Amino acid sequence: MKDEFAKRRKQLMRQIGSSGILIVSAAPISHRNSDCEHAYRQQSDFYYLTGFDEPEAVAVFLPKRKAGEFVLFNRPKNRAEEIWTGLRAGQDKACSFYGADQSFPIKELKAKLPELLDNRQEIYYSLGINKRFDNLLLNTVNSVRRKRQSYPAFIDIAPILHDMRLIKTPAEITLMRKAADITANAHIRAMQFCKPGINEYQLEAEFVYECQRNGGRFQAYTPIVGSGENTCILHYTQNDQVINNGELVLIDAGCEYQNYASDVTRTFPANGKFSPEQSAVYDIVLEAQMAAIKAVKPGASSATYHEIALKILVQGLKDLKILKGDISSLIETRAYAPFYMHKAGHWLGLDVHDVGRYKVNGKWRVLEPGMTLTVEPGLYLSADIKGLAKRWHNIGVRIEDDILVTKNGPEVLTHKAPKKMAEIESLMGKK
Ligand code: GLY
Ligand code: MN
Ligand code: MN
Repeated sequence: MKDEFAKRRKQLMRQIGSSGILIVSAAPISHRNSDCEHAYRQQSDFYYLTGFDEPEAVAVFLPKRKAGEFVLFNRPKNRAEEIWTGLRAGQDKACSFYGADQSFPIKELKAKLPELLDNRQEIYYSLGINKRFDNLLLNTVNSVRRKRQSYPAFIDIAPILHDMRLIKTPAEITLMRKAADITANAHIRAMQFCKPGINEYQLEAEFVYECQRNGGRFQAYTPIVGSGENTCILHYTQNDQVINNGELVLIDAGCEYQNYASDVTRTFPANGKFSPEQSAVYDIVLEAQMAAIKAVKPGASSATYHEIALKILVQGLKDLKILKGDISSLIETRAYAPFYMHKAGHWLGLDVHDVGRYKVNGKWRVLEPGMTLTVEPGLYLSADIKGLAKRWHNIGVRIEDDILVTKNGPEVLTHKAPKKMAEIESLMGKK
């Protein structure tokens, strides 16, 4: 991966040009409560360009600078602190391992920044991500401006950098495949473990256990493990209710592997057998998902798979007599919104809702090989929906896979997680 990070820096610096400077800061440590910290997760742009996984760091990229193009400010080695919080790369390893041309202790950043900004006309930086560093940078630029009568422009690096991140390299795809495999197995484990009477958190535990023991140490987002009425709450994370016989269970969860996300949803019957109503709804969602996946191919508009999924879902609601009217006006008036209130997918990568513009100059982006995205239609028949017949109550179904666009069409990275009803039922029968 070292070469890969170096290649990305080079590619980006070429685009910035020799009058520009790019500054990216590491994610701050975030506290959960008191003096307990959340597990550290590097800011994805920073990681993408450096592979450096420590907090309190700032990377500065200066194309064509004689003394070195990549300057890393990071924590110095400190035996007393490392005993408490773990080893640090320090300045030597920042250069020898992470490929920095120069490395300075983070404390020197304030003093060195004016000199690095010298003669740079464009400052590429994404404001608003790290407010503490925003302040330091703005104050420094202000003093440079006054002292030297130099007026650099601020340019958001996001469109350039995020368009790069949108197309995954073979090395990234390898990591995403691994995340997808681990996650698929974790879904299988959860399905096999499920039975009426257990608690949602017990299923979550099985899922996380299977991920962690295979190297997916962190979840890409808080697992959603809902049963019964909770299947109709899109981002349900309470995960603490008893799973009852006859209910559906919806698990939307995926691990991260070397910071690359997976994001998979499977819905299955608590007792291993879909009821007629559950299977009628499931059928529609699966048909919508499979048809949408087919539309994930190079040259297709990235709007198309959303449209295809929506049409099938609305047709299905009509077939079930939950909606009445003609399909196009049901779509136009958003009559489906109480049952389907999200899009059919999103980019996926270092972030679960990954970066990259969906529209460029007002037009939906065309899909290209190397893009990775989710396809995840759903129907949520909540008991709270007025006029909905009781037989449909609390049937929430979402089916989500991770797709790689290849020159030959869609590749379902998460294909190992079963989604056909017969497969699920036979898997759950084999406990
Ligand atoms: N897990 C959040 C989503 O599916 O987008
Ligand atoms: Mn999801
Ligand atoms: Mn998703």
